[in-house]
Amino acid sequence: MRRSVAPDPGDTVRAGSPSPPSGELRETEGTVRKRLLWATAGIGILLLLSACAPNATQDTLQPQGPYAQKLKDLFIPVFWVAVFVFIVVEGGIVWITIRFRHRKGRERMPAQTHGNTRLEIGWTIAPALILAGVMVPTVASIWDLARKPPDDAINVTVRGFQWWWGFEYTDEDMQSDFGNGAPIRTADVLVIPEDRVVYLSLEAADGGIGDFEVIHSFWIPELAGKQDVVPGRENHILMQADHPGTYTGQCAEFCGLQHGRMLVRVRALSAEDWDAWVANQKRPGVEPAEGSLASQGMDLFLEPLSGGRGSCVACHAVGGTEAGSPAAPELTHFADPTHECFAGCNWETTDRDALEAWLRNPDAVRMGSKMPNYHLSEDEIDALVAYLYSLT
Ligand code: CUA
Repeated sequence: MRRSVAPDPGDTVRAGSPSPPSGELRETEGTVRKRLLWATAGIGILLLLSACAPNATQDTLQPQGPYAQKLKDLFIPVFWVAVFVFIVVEGGIVWITIRFRHRKGRERMPAQTHGNTRLEIGWTIAPALILAGVMVPTVASIWDLARKPPDDAINVTVRGFQWWWGFEYTDEDMQSDFGNGAPIRTADVLVIPEDRVVYLSLEAADGGIGDFEVIHSFWIPELAGKQDVVPGRENHILMQADHPGTYTGQCAEFCGLQHGRMLVRVRALSAEDWDAWVANQKRPGVEPAEGSLASQGMDLFLEPLSGGRGSCVACHAVGGTEAGSPAAPELTHFADPTHECFAGCNWETTDRDALEAWLRNPDAVRMGSKMPNYHLSEDEIDALVAYLYSLT
């Protein structure tokens, strides 16, 4: 047999080493095979363990609203059909492999079969029937999820920026008391009432600060399916949460350097909390008491920084002040308890150290950030943090 003579250059023996005797070669092959087996088993175990993450909230199999439930109701039967097909096909392959394997002492080729009309018709028709069967609930679900929202649905425009999510409440009764009735805007956290349909219109946005309009994908696994956010078009998705709570999600379409950290949360409130939240959001940003640290921060925020370093208001907005740019996250109610996280939801808003580090040098804690390093002094950072935390 060929294997027992000197190896090919592509064989498992290190190039340049003298050709070992056949016994040694077989041993090397055995070691390689054993290592491959261990590596495969290792990867398999890692994959299995990755399913055991504690507090794994982004789970489509634990729907927390009717739209996510519809997706699960479709997934489960289709999954079992796929399991059935897998068992039949893989089982057949394994059985044939074992049944007709090469055996020692048997030199002749097994009988070769070419073409079997009955088999070929069978394995053309069977998959077609299975797919046709699966299509019925699939198409029904697609139609169901594409239905027009009810009249009392809450309308929100979702904008994907590099790299954070912005939300604008476009209903007439969601206009703020400042800025000629500008719509309520939030960043990073979408706040919704429980048990109400929310109709999202998704747009890709170019904040105008050196970022690009790119494709994102908005995904809150427990509340709804995934929906692409495509430049130049408006996509829609329906969402509803059965209970108050926080539901996490993330961008699901590669959109640049920080794609993996473009996180988002949905905070669902009880009807009562929702009314209070809306009333508060309509108010302009709190004006800090004169002479306070927060008031110094407000001055820093609103005026160009000394030495021509730039200004916060070039990109950010705080309702009731002259800061009105929509290029970067809205800060009017930065410290509202529902605004749980900031900067693409990478940090908890209450994490003061993270907020200070972010202001000190955004790029150092989140490489590629579009917020420039303004070389703020520690005193300036303290004042700005005091101001941000006063914006309840
Ligand atoms: Cu936005 Cu990925």
